[in-house]
Amino acid sequence: ASSSPVMQNILLVGFMGCGKSTIGRELHQVLGYPLIDSDEAIEQQAGKSIPDIFAQDGEASFRDLETQLLENLIQNETQHTIISTGGGIITNPANIPLLKQLGFVVWLACSPEVIFERTSRNSNRPLLQCDNPMELIHTLLDQRNPLYQEASHLKINSSNLEIDELTCGILESA
Ligand code: S3P
Repeated sequence: ASSSPVMQNILLVGFMGCGKSTIGRELHQVLGYPLIDSDEAIEQQAGKSIPDIFAQDGEASFRDLETQLLENLIQNETQHTIISTGGGIITNPANIPLLKQLGFVVWLACSPEVIFERTSRNSNRPLLQCDNPMELIHTLLDQRNPLYQEASHLKINSSNLEIDELTCGILESA
């Protein structure tokens, strides 16, 4: 099967903790395509961590950096690359056509319980540093699920992180 995006990349979108980085690394290994992790690329470019960008410059400024990154990838005609994105990249509506223009977009989705479990293990996510992260996860999922849906060509349930199985599912459809 083949979609016909303008540029043949595989992009991974989805909520924090749904396995974008893990599956991105696996696709990188299996296909031998370079891997770009948008969070890491932004941290490198800004010369500071995401928590610092949020704290010092605000979330809006981080969102601008995400848009700039996508625009640069299009500008540079990036091809045959795995691009894993930050969970909120779809909150700017302008980013949705940019993602789709770059390639085949896969939405990794899992349950709020799994997300809570996985994200409570590290504190690198400024959005979830609040009194009631579970409630926030539910609220954000309600807001974002329609956007992930709109932005993606394929939805995959990644509640069970069977890495081989998920990777094969993506490659069969891409
Ligand atoms: C965010 C998700 C994070 C990171 C930032 C904001 C979000 O990426 O971009 O903390 O708004 O969901 P991961 O999905 O890779 O954790």
